[in-house]
Amino acid sequence: MTTGTPVVSGLERAAGRERLRDAFARDVRDGLTAQPKRLACRWFYDDEGSRLFETICELPEYYLTRAEQELLAEHAGAIAARLPRDATLVELGSGNAAKTRLLIEALLARQRRLRYVPIDIAHDALDATARALAASYAGLDVRPLAADWEEALAALGTSGPLAVLWLGSSIGNLTRPEAARFLARVAELVAPRGRMLCGIDLRKDRRTLEAAYDDASGVTARFNLNLLVRINRELGADFALDGFLHRAVYEEDRGRVAMYVVSRRAQRVRIPAVGLDVVFDAGEAVHTEDSWKYSVPEIDALAAQAGFDVEARWLDRAGRFSETLLVPRR
Ligand code: AVJ
Repeated sequence: MTTGTPVVSGLERAAGRERLRDAFARDVRDGLTAQPKRLACRWFYDDEGSRLFETICELPEYYLTRAEQELLAEHAGAIAARLPRDATLVELGSGNAAKTRLLIEALLARQRRLRYVPIDIAHDALDATARALAASYAGLDVRPLAADWEEALAALGTSGPLAVLWLGSSIGNLTRPEAARFLARVAELVAPRGRMLCGIDLRKDRRTLEAAYDDASGVTARFNLNLLVRINRELGADFALDGFLHRAVYEEDRGRVAMYVVSRRAQRVRIPAVGLDVVFDAGEAVHTEDSWKYSVPEIDALAAQAGFDVEARWLDRAGRFSETLLVPRR
């Protein structure tokens, strides 16, 4: 990437914003007229939400990021050694790509050039990340793609093998069948020579999990309630922020942490942009996110279902988090 060249043109960006706003309005209308009410977690990541998520990653309770950082710091060399030399590195949901740097450095230690395609729906953050990375590494050819994962998979060309990274347990936002379907598409895309590296959070005790999603300093609560702030700003709604609270529950039998915003009282909220008056009962919960957790055998089963073999796996020393290298089944 040449510095100074906009990654996405202004027009494209405006069109993208408009499409996104329409999709947001539709989702809010559908979700808040459904029974039970729900909002999709993809809408967490406006500018404020992206900032809050980065703060979450530094919280003492949110062990996921540190565990994965430890894993990549320790094993980036071993991972890099298993990726084809001519592979394009593709990252789904790249964010600030802090952990990816470890892998990029390991790859550039054995080869002079590397093409890297970071994919994210947060346009501005993607721009900043792409520029920072291009400035850091002379041998790195950065080709950012502003898209959601579905669009991204469709848009990826097929010249040469792909090494697809899906870090941070982002897979946790998908139900198990959705995850299997998505991985199956990636398996087809990277076959026969490519690989996928998947960072997946592991099942563990309730206290650790619930603290990770309901931290003492209340950052995750703000992250969750920021959805209401966004609906107020973008759709002209009048959510009273002191009328709702954050809740995170580990549903152990299903293996997921579910997040909700809960109405503290009976109330009515107007959302003019979608022509809605929404009535909430006292204690009524709006489901906002699932973070599915896996055991190692569950990861193996998921991989097999998607048409992948497990080539290698690494756990952090405390056994909280996993990195699994997947190869399309021959
Ligand atoms: C970015 C989806 C992996 O589920 O752990 C963090 C998002 N939600 N705290 C997760 C999140 C609440 C995060 N993922």
